[in-house]
Parts: sequence; structure tokens; C-alpha cells
Amino acid sequence: MLATASITEEIAELKRARRAIILAHHYQDPEIQDLADAVGDSLELARKARAFEGDVIAFCGVWFMAETAKVLNPERIVIVPDRDAGCSLVDSCPAGKLREWKAKNPGYAIVSYINTSIEVKAESDILCTSRNAVNIVNSIPAEQPILFVPDINLGNYVREQTGRADMKIWQGACIVHATFAARKLSRARSEHPSALVAAHPECPGDVLAMADFIGSTSAIIDWCAAQNASEFIVMTESGVRHSLEKLAPEKTFHFIPNEQCNCSECPYMKRNTLEKLRDALRNLSPRVDLSPELIERARRPIDRMLAVQ
Ligand code: 13P
Ligand code: SF4
Repeated sequence: MLATASITEEIAELKRARRAIILAHHYQDPEIQDLADAVGDSLELARKARAFEGDVIAFCGVWFMAETAKVLNPERIVIVPDRDAGCSLVDSCPAGKLREWKAKNPGYAIVSYINTSIEVKAESDILCTSRNAVNIVNSIPAEQPILFVPDINLGNYVREQTGRADMKIWQGACIVHATFAARKLSRARSEHPSALVAAHPECPGDVLAMADFIGSTSAIIDWCAAQNASEFIVMTESGVRHSLEKLAPEKTFHFIPNEQCNCSECPYMKRNTLEKLRDALRNLSPRVDLSPELIERARRPIDRMLAVQ
């Protein structure tokens, strides 16, 4: 406890000295969320990164999110507590393989989920997040065929919501959400019959079919807080519990263990710790460094997304 208090003070001091802001995703540990200037989902954090004034962005999330912040703030230093805070969706879609797919499908527009590498973003026509994916696809003329990368579950959900027939989907998946099982959700529903179900669109279709609400991390939090119900089954990473309980302390939230780790934690997000955040602020490393050419190419699809939603 004392150690945590002194690390928190060190971080506050370094933050002042560096003129830094701390951005944290909802999947970070509570002690990181509590000292962040802003906590949000991937879209909100992309926006916050753009609005912020200062010299350093300490991004407590995963690497692709920090890369997005760097593209939007090329003149600022962007650091991440742990360089290995990656993402299975990013790993599933290497830029070289995407270029091969594009070459086989000329005339298709590339819609990329924000959970992609900066090189994949640079190959894309427009980006989306779990919050705005349906709106983004709806913003594209109906006759334009689409390649959607890399999340198969989000892609299937968007195709169903938009009715787009000519939309091919990459076969990537999130190791946390894609391994939530409908059978475990059914069991939880019979144990908690009055609970409403909220799910992230990276979950499999049979899980989404049982959900009362489907949305991004922040959308799930806001929806649960706004409902009259007092009990919820939440099909996303358990880091959101912290914001849910802060916003709606009188409500009960159940999280279902997935088939991957028998928990509902993202192992990449959980690599970040207070100690690593302090060290990153002290050393200004690990730091996101991108070439001006890559920043320019990746910025276009990000700006197009931000203009739509
Ligand atoms: P959000 O867009 O809801 O923040 O999701 C990002 C993510 O990595 C989900 O696993
Ligand atoms: Fe990637 Fe899944 Fe972790 Fe989100 S929860 S960062 S999609 S591995």
C-alpha cells in the first residue's frame, strides 16, 4: 500500500515535470485508471489524444492505440508502459498479407478496425472502432464492395447490421472475446435470471444473439448505468468492472470466464503496471517512433473515420 502510494506520487511528479497526460483504456488495472487524466474506449482515447495540449502522452493501453495517438500527435512524445502490450487481432493481419488480399480483390475499399498495425492502417481507406463500425460502413456507398479487417466477429456483426452483401471479412479474432462461450453465458443467465446481458461485438455470433445490448467498452458501461435493471452479465474484459462500479455502485455485474484463460482478462493490457508507467515517464521509453511517410499515410483513414463519427 505504501509502495503504491509512493509510486503514485512519483508518477504525479514526473507527469508535471514532463508536461504529460496519462490516457488509460478501460481494460487497465484500477490503480492505473485512477490516476489517468482520461479513461475511455479506443475511439474516445483517439479523440482525447487529438484534443490534448502538452509534450508527452503516456498511453496505458496496447501498442496499436498508442500508434494511433502518435499519428494524431506527430510532434508529441508518445510512450507506453510495456512495449509488449500487443493484440491478437493486430498479429492476425500482417500488412504483407493484406496487400496480397487487396491485389486479389481490386476495386474493394479497405475498412480496418482500429485494432491493426500502423502499416495496415496505411493500406486502408477508412478506419472504424467497435463503437462506430456500423456507421462507418453505412457511410460508404452501397455499390462499393468492402474488405473488412481483421476481426471476423465484428465483421459478421457489421455485415448483419448493414445488410452489406459484398463485404469480405478477414479471419482474425480477439483471444479474449472470441473465446467467450454461449454455453457458459446460458448457464449464467439461468443462475441470474433477472440480469441483462451486454456484449462487445468482438464476441462470437451465438453470444451476441443472446445479448440485450451490443457495443464498445464505453457504450456498455453507459448502457448498464442507464438501465433500470440492477444486475448485468457483462461479456467483455473484466477491467470495465472498475468504471461500472464507480458509475453504478448499487448494481451487480457478473463476468464470465472465457475458454482461453478461464478468466476474462486481456493478457496484453495487463502487462502495463504502475512501476512500468513510472519508468516510462522517467526514461521516455518505450516510445512510439513512426516515419513521417507512415504517419501521413495512416492519418488519412483515421481522419476519414473521425469525420464520420
Ligand atoms: P473498444 O473500442 O471497446 O475500446 O475495444 C478495444 C478493444 O481492444 C476491445 O478488445
Ligand atoms: Fe486485442 Fe482482444 Fe486484448 Fe482488445 S482484448 S487488446 S482485441 S487481445
